[in-house]
Amino acid sequence: MIALELSHVSKSFASRGQSLEIMRDVSLTVQAGEFLVVVGPSGCGKSTLLRMIQGLETLSSGSVRVGAGEATTRGFVFQRDGLYPWRSVLRNVMLGLELAHVPVSEAKPRAEAMIDLVGLRGFEGHYPNELSGGMRQRVNLARALAIDPDMLLMDEPFAALDALTRENMQQELIRISAAAGKTVILITHQIDEAVLLADRVAVLGARPSHILDIVRIDLPRPRTLDLKRTPEFQAYVDGIWTMVTQAETETRVGG
Ligand SMILES: Nc1ncnc2c1ncn2[C@@H]1O[C@H](COP(=O)(O)OP(=O)(O)OP(=O)(O)O)[C@@H](O)[C@H]1O
Ligand SMILES: [Mg+2]
Repeated sequence: MIALELSHVSKSFASRGQSLEIMRDVSLTVQAGEFLVVVGPSGCGKSTLLRMIQGLETLSSGSVRVGAGEATTRGFVFQRDGLYPWRSVLRNVMLGLELAHVPVSEAKPRAEAMIDLVGLRGFEGHYPNELSGGMRQRVNLARALAIDPDMLLMDEPFAALDALTRENMQQELIRISAAAGKTVILITHQIDEAVLLADRVAVLGARPSHILDIVRIDLPRPRTLDLKRTPEFQAYVDGIWTMVTQAETETRVGG
């Protein structure tokens, strides 16, 4: 089953009276349950792409089709956690359900189950300022999952975390996405994170960006962190690394 289909997507922004072409003719199909990671040089339009999938940004041309059309729910995890400081962990996780008018009697147990899933049982009553960065990102993830979205869209969700917490969260995400069976589209700057998590990695080129390559990661699952030390893993990282650095150079030469 197809979860997402981008066809000939192009995007330009009007900027200071000029049109800035961000993306040219991007086509991509994502299967239901697939974990797709998008990498590419800074400013090539990754966040814009995710926002177009989310429906928060218009396309200049082409089309975005999500599996079940308008009815498809999408959970969004931003780089910076969007938690409300005056709401407890539980009430932050319940937010999306409240907005969807799910009755509290149903919303509460569902939120609690998600808090459990991300490993935060016992912290339901805590407030965001009482949590570490990694814990806040887990709350973020629990909130996105609570609405039981068909698709999870994650824009550099771990960028603000230290290396150790980040690896921890990578492992958590592997566990959670396998357990929840969601279609996930995740953006990252870290190539090893991309290879560890992805079924496929889409490599975007310099602006106006286009798909340079889509690399299928044929590494066994469930994946653990020691996989990073294998030559097979490193070969994937090196290959993608070369493409991205080449694209970065083009960005600098080109403008
Ligand atoms: N609303 C907007 N109006 C005008 N230009 C915009 C707008 N949003 C983004 N841009 C431009 O579009 C380009 C792509 O931005 P985007 O945030 O999608 O890049 P990115 O690949 O996510 O970058 P990074 O890796 O740094 O997060 C940038 O040049 C940015 O300045
Ligand atoms: Mg971005």
